[in-house]
Amino acid sequence: MMKMWSGRFRQPLDPQFERWQRSFEFDRRLLRYELAAGAAHARALKNAGVLSADELISILEALQKIGESDSQVSQNPRDPSTSLRAGLGHRNDTCSVHVEDDEAEDVHHYLEKQLVALIGETGYKLHSGRSRNEQIATDLRLYVRAAIDELRYELSEICAAFIHRAEQAGTAAMPAYTHLQHAEPVLVAHWLLAYLEMLLRDADRLAGCRARLNACPLGSGAVAGATLSLDRTFMAKELEFVSPTANSIDATSDRDFVLEFVNDLSILALHLSRWAEEMILFASHEFGFIHLPEAYSTGSSAMPQKKNPDLMELVRGKTGRVIGDANALMVILKGLPLAYNKDLQETQEPLFDATETMMNVLPLVTGFMKAVEFDFDRMNAGAQSGFMNAWAAATYLVNRGVPSRLAHEQVGKAVKLCLEKNCELRDLTLEELRGLNSAFDERFYECLKPASVLAMHDVIGGTAPERVRQAMASTKKKIDSLREEVHAHA
Ligand code: ARG
Repeated sequence: MMKMWSGRFRQPLDPQFERWQRSFEFDRRLLRYELAAGAAHARALKNAGVLSADELISILEALQKIGESDSQVSQNPRDPSTSLRAGLGHRNDTCSVHVEDDEAEDVHHYLEKQLVALIGETGYKLHSGRSRNEQIATDLRLYVRAAIDELRYELSEICAAFIHRAEQAGTAAMPAYTHLQHAEPVLVAHWLLAYLEMLLRDADRLAGCRARLNACPLGSGAVAGATLSLDRTFMAKELEFVSPTANSIDATSDRDFVLEFVNDLSILALHLSRWAEEMILFASHEFGFIHLPEAYSTGSSAMPQKKNPDLMELVRGKTGRVIGDANALMVILKGLPLAYNKDLQETQEPLFDATETMMNVLPLVTGFMKAVEFDFDRMNAGAQSGFMNAWAAATYLVNRGVPSRLAHEQVGKAVKLCLEKNCELRDLTLEELRGLNSAFDERFYECLKPASVLAMHDVIGGTAPERVRQAMASTKKKIDSLREEVHAHA
């Protein structure tokens, strides 16, 4: 079997080393991008006069065939002008994880072998003037770009599910916590909107990453640029990149788009992990704020009564894994001299792992979010006890001219009295209150009611129902435009 580089070697490789250094087992996922990049390169070779028109057609048709036999793309093989470009999208289920080849060193070698098997020596012409270093950099950019489109689509579905639940929640209230201690009441919708802020920023970060990676390394050669005068702008256009990359050394050796992407995924995963943690807590007997959907829960083989939040626990657990992938990438890259080093091959598996992990997590999160049941009675009840109106009570005094520090102290004393009497602030008599400050009057009791406490937080971004209504409308708009965008890329 001919290697892509064996000319100068007198000895064959040690078989164990040979097997060990291959990447085909994982980089076969890149086949569809390798095919697309190969087609773009072939066209550029024809334009540069290196391939004849017939050779180009035979190469393009062969690429098409290889793609089809891998059920990657299916277009009219007779029409090379449309070939392969439409194959740029990322579909997890059609990623070529199943192509087998015991000899291929990597996806580039695999493709060359297939090509030569189909059309003979002309197949070897495709590699004219290019290097695997620019190819892998191109394939990975295409992979990440497509993955971003798919993940942002899934993210938009999660957002739609969250906003729908927020709308359904109406004016239901719940306790908000700091230090996991009762803090103040908030609208359930306000709490859900908090996650939407995070998720929309995540979608935005991914879009930023996409914009930065959207330049084409083809024509960068091994390190110094192609040795044939290839039209790089043409190749970039063929692959729907905005432009060619600016520097051949950078293009063949940096993977910051992979780092950025997987770190963006870590942040997204981390947000979902915090949400999952809340779901787990809120499903516990002690909170009882939500009822786990049976379709997304599991039982215990031992304890018959159990319904466990396994999906949420796995969302939390997978986050550790994705953060680990991001960390691995950083460490792999940190000491590499420019330009290409084989270490870079090690960036692929963490990338694929993080991508596939999140690709699987996101639709499940959407499913869970649609199905989970909120117990608004329990949440509302939780929002009425535990002195969550104490800050509102102090504000009542502040509004009557009492200096904030003193008001804080006096309401603190009122709370202490309640703790002794085992009651809430509303149960104290006016006499008891006046003993602390003569500014207390009948209106105080009105101000302690949950509705007044909520309404008091009447600032932009606050939980007053009118503010939440406004926030919901503007969040909805953002989700709608995200959905429009992702559908355009789909
Ligand atoms: N499989 C290799 C990788 O993923 C492709 C590039 C190989 N380049 C080289 N000079 N050996 O990095």
